[in-house]
Amino acid sequence: MKVLIIGQGGREHALAWKVKKSPRVKRIYCASGNGGTARVAANVPIRSDDTKALMRFAEDEKIDLTIVGPEAPLALGVVDSFREKGLRVFGPTKAASALESSKIFTKLLARDMRIPTADFEIFDKPDKAKDYVRSQKYPVVIKADGLAQGKGVIVAKDKNEAESAIDRIMVEKAFGHAGDRIIVEECLRGEEASIIVISDGENVVPLASSQDHKRLHDGDKGPNTGGMGAYSPAPVVTDKIFSGTITDMIGPAIRGMKEKGAPLSGVLYAGIMITENGPKLLEFNVRFGDPETQAILPRLESDFVEMIEASIDGLLKGHELAWNDKSCVSVVMASGGYPGKYEKEKKITGLDKVRKLKETFVFHAGTKLVDNNVLTTGGRVLNVVALGSDIKEAIDKVYLACGEIKFEGAHYR
Ligand code: AMP
Ligand code: GLY
Repeated sequence: MKVLIIGQGGREHALAWKVKKSPRVKRIYCASGNGGTARVAANVPIRSDDTKALMRFAEDEKIDLTIVGPEAPLALGVVDSFREKGLRVFGPTKAASALESSKIFTKLLARDMRIPTADFEIFDKPDKAKDYVRSQKYPVVIKADGLAQGKGVIVAKDKNEAESAIDRIMVEKAFGHAGDRIIVEECLRGEEASIIVISDGENVVPLASSQDHKRLHDGDKGPNTGGMGAYSPAPVVTDKIFSGTITDMIGPAIRGMKEKGAPLSGVLYAGIMITENGPKLLEFNVRFGDPETQAILPRLESDFVEMIEASIDGLLKGHELAWNDKSCVSVVMASGGYPGKYEKEKKITGLDKVRKLKETFVFHAGTKLVDNNVLTTGGRVLNVVALGSDIKEAIDKVYLACGEIKFEGAHYR
């Protein structure tokens, strides 16, 4: 079986690594991949938003299964295009991707399906939004409706911050058309966690819980980033919270999408806030989390490709997954300057030493392989991952490995 993975980050390296363990898989391609996927897959220089070129490649190479990593190609309808050509693909259609590509769509679905979430109002005119925020309790949360690479949410601590966020999104169009409409919502307090499930449009199979760490520095300080690390399981997610999220959020969303004629086949990722009044939905994503996936997949014992195929074929009912009982921690090593401007093309050393460590893996994100040297190409460079019998052992192992890996300017929390 030939598998194509679309994307180029740490999530896609983890996906390729896990797919490779499936006995039926003979060859893996990654478009466009990175220095790490180059060792488990053949990298193909096609951008993940170039649907036509991806389809041509899948047809020419007789790809048996395509797995889509990032949200942008899903929102563009890559799955619909592949399906029209009879190509087998894992992921939601463009219509179902609205659960991630429109926060307003999700809020309205949540209202219809009585999914617990923050109270909200929708605006399509900046003046109306500003009138509204003048009478609100602070902080309030302002969100661009569309995809904004994780930067479209602003927690405003006073009226001035709220008004300038409205201007940035709706008037200056900092995120383009993603900011044509906004949500103003109640600020929730608590701890965040991620519950990710695989769906076939009707049935779901949950993956292990996880939690990512968005702030740059230790103790959740410093600016927000794309995620500096993750662990699984998330200790804050008790069995009750886990099953409550499935019954009160995931289940109604899957039913609601089916009723709308846009069943969600693929991944459903619920970002939740565990508040004093119970868990509430922050967002849905329709793809694997990054960096959560890097901490989840090393714990999965079952065949990943079988699960993906059961989702595509509508056969997830009764599909069970086996997990090891270890804790997994993933730490992001970033370039000097990240999340601001950073330098590239730094040589990475020490990866060979880490390869010899037990239950320790490195999933590459912003790297490339040049003449057998691994060079940095992005802000988030590597995900260093370790399994341990408990979270403390996993943490000790992961930092031991981080200490072996060197590149100029490297930093991690
Ligand atoms: P979202 O893309 O909607 O999940 O928002 C991104 C991040 O913004 C979340 O992971 C939270 O940290 C924060 N956030 C979003 N909505 C709220 C809210 N209602 N209250 C507090 N924080 C929020
Ligand atoms: N880790 C957050 C996300 O994947 O959206």
